[in-house]
Amino acid sequence: MGYVVIGILLCFSSASCYLASARPMLVSGSPSNKIMATQRSRAPAGSRVFLPIAQENNNDVNQVAGWATTLHPYFGSRSKMSIWGSSHEHSQESGASITIYSGSAQESFNCIQAGLHVFPDWYNSSDVHFFVYWTRDGFQSTGCTNLRCPGFVPAKGAALVPGQPIAPSVYGGKDRYITISLYMDPSTGDWVLYREDLATPSFLGHFPKELFTNLNDGADVGWFAFVDYRKNEPGPPMGSGHFPKEGERKAAYFKKIQLFDSRANAYDLQPGQSDLTRVFTQQECYNVSEVIQTKHDGTVFYYGGPSGCVM
Ligand SMILES: *[C@@H]1O[C@H](CO)[C@@H](O)[C@H](O)[C@H]1NC(C)=O
Ligand SMILES: *[C@@H]1O[C@H](CO)[C@@H](O)[C@H](O)[C@H]1NC(C)=O
Repeated sequence: MGYVVIGILLCFSSASCYLASARPMLVSGSPSNKIMATQRSRAPAGSRVFLPIAQENNNDVNQVAGWATTLHPYFGSRSKMSIWGSSHEHSQESGASITIYSGSAQESFNCIQAGLHVFPDWYNSSDVHFFVYWTRDGFQSTGCTNLRCPGFVPAKGAALVPGQPIAPSVYGGKDRYITISLYMDPSTGDWVLYREDLATPSFLGHFPKELFTNLNDGADVGWFAFVDYRKNEPGPPMGSGHFPKEGERKAAYFKKIQLFDSRANAYDLQPGQSDLTRVFTQQECYNVSEVIQTKHDGTVFYYGGPSGCVM
């Protein structure tokens, strides 16, 4: 994730938003690729919402599929996330994360991510790894992935450590997942991370509030899947490598999606929530389903796409 650039969601009317780059020169070559449709964004006309979404630069392509809120404040999220592995070429990354973000300019853009990724350049293997990431200046000079810089403070004896590999699901078979929550502890102001798919919730660690300049009063939340690859090379699979329409046991998902309020109370994300925005960069390659409410899995969406996307 060394080459990310922030996307800006520009909303011109209640029905259309476009994903634009914070650095316009990077998108001048092929602006049509940057158009982002939304199903139900009702962000105010003219609003600029910064999304922690990578865009392409000269050599790299970054694709995203997911959902995001655009009218903070929220104070965190919990979600069950499917775990999928895949074989990657060098320099390719794919993954998914809960993302907390806030800020109206790149310099002040604060972001925390916790999720899963496949990134052979980092780990020297195609295994799926748990990861965390933070920045407070829009990916410029602060922050890092996992424990490569001071920032995230892992808990002693945590059930999952940033960078740790985990076993993936099997297409049409075993469903493997992780449930994580990332929210602001109202008593300390720190952002705390828990793993909650075990018998009892396990505290994984925290991001001290001092790391950030913009998250004290809440933030927006994104549930994003992403792939990064070299331009003109076939892209890696996203999720299970299958489109969201394949659904249960076949497509990657976020389930039991919840938001936290300022008192650390969790409540279900509502599919009809007015500021919920569908985010994608190229849905022929990497698509994302509608958000639906289900009896057993709460609020759910599916995402993904096969390898071979060329852009
Ligand atoms: C990468 O993995 C290969 C195969 O497992 C191993 O031979 C090699 O030493 C590893 N390289 C590093 C830098 O860890
Ligand atoms: C992507 O998913 C949406 C929502 O399910 C669907 O309407 C659309 O047709 C899909 N797009 C492609 C290119 O498959």
